[in-house]
Amino acid sequence: MPVIKLLPDIYSVGVIDWNVRSFHGHTYTTKRGTTYNSYLIIDDKIALVDTAYGPFAKELIQNISSVIPPEKIDYVIANHVETDHSGALPELMKLCPKAKVIGTEKCKEGLYKNYYGNWGFQIVKTGDKLNLGKRTLSFIEAPMIHWPDSMFTYCPEEELLMPNDAFGQHLATSERFNDEVDQCALMDEAAKYYANILWPLGAIILKKIDEVVKMGIPIKIIAPSHGVIWRDDPMRIVNEYLKWAKNETKPKVVVAYESMWGSTEKMAKKIVDGISDAGVSVKLFDVTQTDRTEVMKEMLEAKGFLFGSSTHDNDMLPTLAGFLEFLKGLKPKNRVAACFGSYGWAGGAVKNIEGIMQEAGIDLAAQGYQVKYVPDEDEMKRCYEFGAEFAKKVQGG
Ligand code: FEO
Repeated sequence: MPVIKLLPDIYSVGVIDWNVRSFHGHTYTTKRGTTYNSYLIIDDKIALVDTAYGPFAKELIQNISSVIPPEKIDYVIANHVETDHSGALPELMKLCPKAKVIGTEKCKEGLYKNYYGNWGFQIVKTGDKLNLGKRTLSFIEAPMIHWPDSMFTYCPEEELLMPNDAFGQHLATSERFNDEVDQCALMDEAAKYYANILWPLGAIILKKIDEVVKMGIPIKIIAPSHGVIWRDDPMRIVNEYLKWAKNETKPKVVVAYESMWGSTEKMAKKIVDGISDAGVSVKLFDVTQTDRTEVMKEMLEAKGFLFGSSTHDNDMLPTLAGFLEFLKGLKPKNRVAACFGSYGWAGGAVKNIEGIMQEAGIDLAAQGYQVKYVPDEDEMKRCYEFGAEFAKKVQGG
């Protein structure tokens, strides 16, 4: 990533990971790559906010070196322990061993347990300030957004918020600002990030945004640790987060299914016709063919979920089972669901999917619909009606 002057004496020195396609221990696909953002603030004291993923340490150090010799760094602010932002720290600290690492108490513990580095560490809490000279850095603890150690760093003189993962997007671009990139791709990646990483944390996010609003701190720029920097109307992404955190929905249905010999797929397609003809937006996904994280993004604003599976060994098929386990962990609220599927001699898939819905706290809007072997004409008609009736349950969002 080219080094960019974000503001006078503040540089974006992070790196672009163009080729990463699987992230977070293979729980997240990154079809557009990502960036590991790092910000260098040159003042009487020199501070670096966050580092980068370990394999990019050399590139990060080269970027820093193009602005100042790394040994001049006085403070390394560690907003988050996770290795994509701290992996380069051991290499960097070799070059600036006297620099103080700054972060929360949990950050100190986490960094030590990851790297066993003997670095000087200053623990900070919400409201603590670090004077750099003309500028100050103040810190806002943000536990569980999205790790216990997470923290935001704010520079009041520049009205610059550096919230690490929050408001980030896995988007590798040579452009650095939100007004320079394709808006559909940007919002697509921001929503995917929220859906797959932050969705379960809505209540915490709402509380944190309320806390920051009550602090009355002006924010001109939001510079996250992934993707582009929000300089054009940064409140736009904050408002999107508010909407997602409140689990606001649209009258939209996502149908996700897995079919062994095609009967459940036939049912799914007819159900989709019923939903669509009822005037409700619908998207259909065979979970064996579509990336799970993309489907979760589609589900983020959908009021209705329909899940279908053939029965196999008295249960749902295994790809859908994994899909639903992941969804359960995201704790979606304010949704309705229903289930369907084909079976041969003894069912089980629909009942077990309904059980997962109950565990996940997702209301069942209709009794599940099962068909023995291949659906006949009447059963296909019933599938259509099943879809149309479900559409009515999601109208109005
Ligand atoms: Fe981008 Fe939680 O790491």
